[in-house]
Amino acid sequence: MALKVVILAAGKGTRMCSKLPKVLQPLAQKPLLQHVIDTAQALNCDEIITVIGHGADLVQSRVTGQNIRFTLQEKQLGTGHAVMQADTHYLDDDTVLILYGDVPLTSSETLNTLLTLVDDQNPLALLTVTLSNSTGYGRIVRNSENAVQSIVEQKDASREELTIKEVNTGIMAVKGGHLKQWLAALDNQNVQSEYYLTDIIAMAVSDGFSIQTAQPTLEAEVLGVNDKLQLQSLERAYQLQSAESLMRQGATVVDAARLDIRGDVVVGADVTLDVNVVLEGQVSLGENVFIGAHSVLKNVQIAANTYIHPFSHLEGCIVGQFCSIGPYARLRPGTELADEAKIGNFVEIKKSKIGTGSKISHLSYIGDTNMGREVNIGAGTITCNYDGVNKHQTIIGDHAFVGSDTQLVAPVEIESGATIGAGSTITKCAPADELTLSRSKQITLKGWQKPTKLS
Ligand code: UD1
Ligand code: CA
Repeated sequence: MALKVVILAAGKGTRMCSKLPKVLQPLAQKPLLQHVIDTAQALNCDEIITVIGHGADLVQSRVTGQNIRFTLQEKQLGTGHAVMQADTHYLDDDTVLILYGDVPLTSSETLNTLLTLVDDQNPLALLTVTLSNSTGYGRIVRNSENAVQSIVEQKDASREELTIKEVNTGIMAVKGGHLKQWLAALDNQNVQSEYYLTDIIAMAVSDGFSIQTAQPTLEAEVLGVNDKLQLQSLERAYQLQSAESLMRQGATVVDAARLDIRGDVVVGADVTLDVNVVLEGQVSLGENVFIGAHSVLKNVQIAANTYIHPFSHLEGCIVGQFCSIGPYARLRPGTELADEAKIGNFVEIKKSKIGTGSKISHLSYIGDTNMGREVNIGAGTITCNYDGVNKHQTIIGDHAFVGSDTQLVAPVEIESGATIGAGSTITKCAPADELTLSRSKQITLKGWQKPTKLS
């Protein structure tokens, strides 16, 4: 007996008004369908069968997962017809869980609860939800004993049925053998001339089975995305959940409505995330790290007690403990800061190692550089790492002092303890513990006169 997940993802999503298929629309920068695949994976299912149609090739190329296969539904003839496309991929004894590529926020806890309701005696369990406004949804019809009898689609419902508030989320778990048998008996004799998956409920009832139902913890778990407004509203629901989860791990979030998580974030105790922080990709923040307002961090690892001042942008870097970064700093991929480094305002660093306690406090570009410890880089220092064709390395030894407004023309080495006079253009090795400078002597022209304005 295996667990097979079938994800319906063939629809076009006309109301998105987008060239991108609906299930590829991004929520927290990840396709809607990928959210569903990741949830399925968290259930330890044996196989994921994704039914694709509109934009099939693109959809298939943009999502990933283990044990995932795709099956094509060439024409979208209804949800029942969509599930039929998966019928060679499960056995009678399997449990089939049906999910939707445009319903991204269902929790694995809710789905596990649903799955516990299915066995040989109870071959069909439904996830239902009670909504104050049930417009558009299939209504759950129960008898006087409260047993589910059928699902009636909005377009086929009587006036009395339309008042029912308990609706079909579409998510259900069914034993494979029964599913095949009921799907084979579907017809499309309804207002939409579609093969409705929901018609299998009445079939199960007439076969003498009682339908089990479960409800989600949160309404957002079962909401689908049909247009950009719903996409935005689920994005906010997701972001709120992410912020709450970080707070439960000990982070101080200044305003949960002004934090965006677009990846996987791990936080130590007492991390503070100020307003309008965006965290992307894989981010790990050690204890007591402070991320200042309006900062964007993508794929970064920051050790304990480091302080990021506002408006900083860090991508693809590793930062040690007790560092100070920004405001307005830009750390690009391949940057590694050792402990206690200080990177000040308007400093850009790329593919460089900065040693313990070194300071680059103002207005500099450091690229392709290996810098030792306790180095001081003066304001406006530039590593000229690119000759127009190739990139070259700069090496700066421990305790070097580089005066302001210096250009270090790579490949070049500043040996340990060297001092570089301000305003120098350094093209050759600067020896250890000596003062090196390349500056023409200062002169004053006696009797020089300011030009006069021509009439
Ligand atoms: C369906 C349910 C309804 C439920 C609602 C919840 C049926 C008949 N109705 O209605 O009871 O309240 O979902 O949102 O099942 N799809 C395919 N191939 C198809 C048809 C649909 O892949 O041939 C996919 C769509 O892309 C979509 C999902 O299945 O992601 C639901 O289809 P849709 O037509 O939107 O169903 P609803 O009419 O909303
Ligand atoms: Ca429909």
